[in-house]
Amino acid sequence: MKIGILGTGDVGKALGKAFAALGHDVKMGARDVKNEKALAWEKETGPKASVGTFADAAGFGDILVLATLGVANESALEMAGPERFRGKVLIDATNPLDFSKGVPPTLAVSGNDSAGERVQKFLPGALVVKAFNTVGSAHMFRPGLPGGPPDMFICGNDVEAKKTVGGILREFGWGVVDVGGIESSRYLEAMCLVWVLFAFSTTPPTWNHAFKMLRK
Ligand SMILES: NC(=O)c1ccc[n+]([C@@H]2O[C@H](COP(=O)([O-])OP(=O)(O)OC[C@H]3O[C@@H](n4cnc5c(N)ncnc54)[C@H](OP(=O)(O)O)[C@@H]3O)[C@@H](O)[C@H]2O)c1
Repeated sequence: MKIGILGTGDVGKALGKAFAALGHDVKMGARDVKNEKALAWEKETGPKASVGTFADAAGFGDILVLATLGVANESALEMAGPERFRGKVLIDATNPLDFSKGVPPTLAVSGNDSAGERVQKFLPGALVVKAFNTVGSAHMFRPGLPGGPPDMFICGNDVEAKKTVGGILREFGWGVVDVGGIESSRYLEAMCLVWVLFAFSTTPPTWNHAFKMLRK
């Protein structure tokens, strides 16, 4: 499969490397085609990896990943060209975090709205699935945590797209919990803050935890 990753941060790098390790061709996009983080990632990841602009990555992938600064999602998507997302599964790993008052951050968008919903509204032709936003990048692929596998909570409007993303998550080492349509992003993005607040409740902060739904 061809995977397009929009984002050169820790999430883009981790997910891009994971898809390449599973044999997929991965293009990482940035604002600038000469983005140093993307070029370093390409070198480290090997022949399955390539780099380009956000538009190059969006045009390349059959499946796309949004891993941009949450409050800049629309700006990145505008640069990528909304028409390039039509009919494609878009995994939205973002959180609209506001660091203006320091850490822990708050949500810049919350209540009756969310980054996930904004992404879906901005790209009406895309099949947006919120996933990977409730764990740190270090554990997105093969988390290997004691008591696992942990569960990834996902949501989105398209049932087939969620099946596709569910398959990817299981291959990455996750259980999957589908919590409904894209409007459930309101709660999954808030869950990210629960994950962050737990990290800061430990001294020193620790980042090696993930959620699991227990069922009977
Ligand atoms: N870090 C984690 O462990 C983690 C875990 C779960 C979810 N998340 C969420 O996943 C997303 C990515 O996180 P991250 O830590 O990997 O990276 P990040 O630093 O939050 O975002 C980096 C990406 O955002 C792009 N960007 C920044 N400002 C922009 C602007 N004004 N316009 C367009 N694009 C802009 C950058 O573009 P360039 O490449 O051109 O610089 C880069 O590709 C975030 O929404 C974050 O909340 C993060």
